[in-house]
Amino acid sequence: MRIVIAKDYEDMSARAARIVAGQIYLKPNSVLGMATGSTPLLLYKELIKVHKEVGLDFSEIITFNLDEYLGLPKEDEQSYYYYMFHHFFDHINIKKQNIYIPDGMAQEVEKECRDYDRSIHNMGGIDLQILGIGNNGHIGFNEPDIKFEATTHKVKLDDETIEANARFFATIEEVPRFAISMGIKTIMHAKKLVLLASGENKAEVLYHALYGGITPEVPASILQLHQDVTVIIEESAAHLV
Ligand code: GLP
Repeated sequence: MRIVIAKDYEDMSARAARIVAGQIYLKPNSVLGMATGSTPLLLYKELIKVHKEVGLDFSEIITFNLDEYLGLPKEDEQSYYYYMFHHFFDHINIKKQNIYIPDGMAQEVEKECRDYDRSIHNMGGIDLQILGIGNNGHIGFNEPDIKFEATTHKVKLDDETIEANARFFATIEEVPRFAISMGIKTIMHAKKLVLLASGENKAEVLYHALYGGITPEVPASILQLHQDVTVIIEESAAHLV
């Protein structure tokens, strides 16, 4: 595990952008795993800048998002589908058919999950997965649990997650109670992982994830077992590290 302390949010994002750009440069048809939330927003801006200024080419890139809320249609501004297009995909030259995001309106959720894992497998697996971390240690929407869920699955969101994500919605009642998330094994299968953490409120959970026991009660703790993970921590989230 490589742990990098960045001096601020800009530095964290720039360092992550360099890793992603390097991956694309070396393998133009890379399969990238994408994350949502506030943390990677500036990373996406940086990558758009590199695309516009020096022509970083996304035309052969394939992406898989970590998760999606169940019950939100694509056009809902709170859906991760909307987030990804609005903040990233609409501004680069990625092909729409190369973008995979779980369908939050899937009628057959089980099938949607199985198909998602199959698509990842068929594309040769994820080369580089970007991750954030939830206040309760979740990665994707893998909530603290008594076991690690291996594959893509339906999740019941924790009250803590619903509260944390309510800031994006008009009222807390509007936050979906369920989501589809890549499983822990799916994430651990990625060849490289980059975990980003920003803000004082992540300091404690990050400490448990990086130095505590490996337990499904802190889902991010499984990353200690991955062979190639870079953790980029903005200074205020790093004071316990
Ligand atoms: C969300 C997402 C995660 C994200 C996390 C942290 O619920 N499902 O993928 O990493 O919460 O979000 P933020 O970066 O806004 O703190």
